[in-house]
Amino acid sequence: MSSDTYVGAIDQGTTGTRFMVFDHAGRVITSAYEKHEQHYPEPGWVEHDPIEIWQKTQAVITTALDEADVDATQLEAIGVTNQRETTVLWDRDTGAPIHNAIVWQDRRTTDRIEELAEAGTVEEIRDKTGLEADAYFSATKAEWLLDNADPIKTQRARPADLRERAEDGEILFGTIDSWLIYNLTGNHITEVTNASRTMLYNIHDLDWDDDLLSEFDVPREMLPEVRPSSDDEYYGHTDSDGFLGAEIPVAGAFGDQQAALFGQTCFDAGDAKNTYGTGSFFLANTGEEAVESDHGLLTTIGFQRSGEPVQYALEGSIFITGAAIEWLEDVDLIEDALVSEEVARSVDSTDGVYFVPAFTGLGAPHWDGRARGTIVGMTRGTRRAHIVRAAIESIAFQTRDVAEAMEADADMEISRLKVDGGAVKNNFLCQQQADIIDANIVRPEVDETTALGSAYAAGLAVGYWNNLEELRDNWQVDREFTPEMNTDEVDAKYDRWSDAVERSLDWARE
Ligand code: G3P
Repeated sequence: MSSDTYVGAIDQGTTGTRFMVFDHAGRVITSAYEKHEQHYPEPGWVEHDPIEIWQKTQAVITTALDEADVDATQLEAIGVTNQRETTVLWDRDTGAPIHNAIVWQDRRTTDRIEELAEAGTVEEIRDKTGLEADAYFSATKAEWLLDNADPIKTQRARPADLRERAEDGEILFGTIDSWLIYNLTGNHITEVTNASRTMLYNIHDLDWDDDLLSEFDVPREMLPEVRPSSDDEYYGHTDSDGFLGAEIPVAGAFGDQQAALFGQTCFDAGDAKNTYGTGSFFLANTGEEAVESDHGLLTTIGFQRSGEPVQYALEGSIFITGAAIEWLEDVDLIEDALVSEEVARSVDSTDGVYFVPAFTGLGAPHWDGRARGTIVGMTRGTRRAHIVRAAIESIAFQTRDVAEAMEADADMEISRLKVDGGAVKNNFLCQQQADIIDANIVRPEVDETTALGSAYAAGLAVGYWNNLEELRDNWQVDREFTPEMNTDEVDAKYDRWSDAVERSLDWARE
């Protein structure tokens, strides 16, 4: 065992949890990953078991350290990054969740959102939170849990008194960062980029918003303290008597998309990245200005370092991209996501097929919770390869939808885009993306920029890294893809894509 020191990062995503250890050069020393179960109790509902998430978090930390013979005491700090918006309620005294977590993809509160639209509350929500009123965010999930959570798990709480107990601070609310920080340190804290996704947090006043708390009947007493992404005061320490057997500062956290923005060193206004995971999330740093969107993007918090002003970002949230490839696997069109590139390349085009994977409605820039998945343009000659290719192209087309909105809102021209996330290993996708948005696509050497970003947040807080320049020096290009396709041809295809999106939205209007 060497005596070198490192920074660890927990990346708790929608499908699984990863722990990674980074050295000072931002290189990966060790990594372990485990999936967790997805629960679909009703169509459109998605839940995770918070206990399973915490158990898997401990398991991946232990495995990663063991495999590389790294002792926990060699970690100078731990950072956390997480699937955003996913909502957990738990009992302060026992730490037991009141219910499964309601996942960001869950649509059970769509009716409630429509009520808000009818009542004209949407504008107020946008002004205060920067968000488009949608079931995607935590507010209506927390409201639903307070109204409906199953009392059996806690034995003590009954639905009728759950809200009362929340008012007394006995039932706590948190997004996944908060749930993990609570289990790691015992403190009820959230981080500011995560708070900005709850639809309860005023991104201008930097406080929970009393009007919104009252609209959703969420007691302030149940909410966590909001802290910077990189926190010199630390969120707390792990317990030396706990699973890690050491007292390590937990000093940084980020919603996963903001973590990727930071890990890609998008520190300045105008810097942008797109992350391809279950969905895709295109974020552009807008500096200290919270730019309002006129084109269906979200205004959100990008990051904050202790003692410094928050940096804002514009975000295009695309709900289903990588999950479209998983769906191809689910329905046996491909055996494994890894073969999607080969299958897509086996044909020259989709032969006129367009696939809009609106499985959980459409996010930016359309915001329609009732849109549904659509495949159009099939003929008797359509083969699985055409559908597979159309699924990959849908990822690139959806990105163009948000890239165009971004250019219009932020008055910027996207000529070079940093990308990351699992799907960017697919060279075909990267090339398609370069062609379809007519910009260079830049893939960094470390494509796990989400974990890296949260390691950076924690490492800066404890002085493992001293400044942003050191982080910029760590960032290296793996490969740059340049546009190759004729732009008239691309534009014609994009017009047809837009027609297909209209079909998917029409389904919602039935
Ligand atoms: O907003 C949802 C997003 O944070 C989920 O990211 O990577 O877990 O699919 P991911």
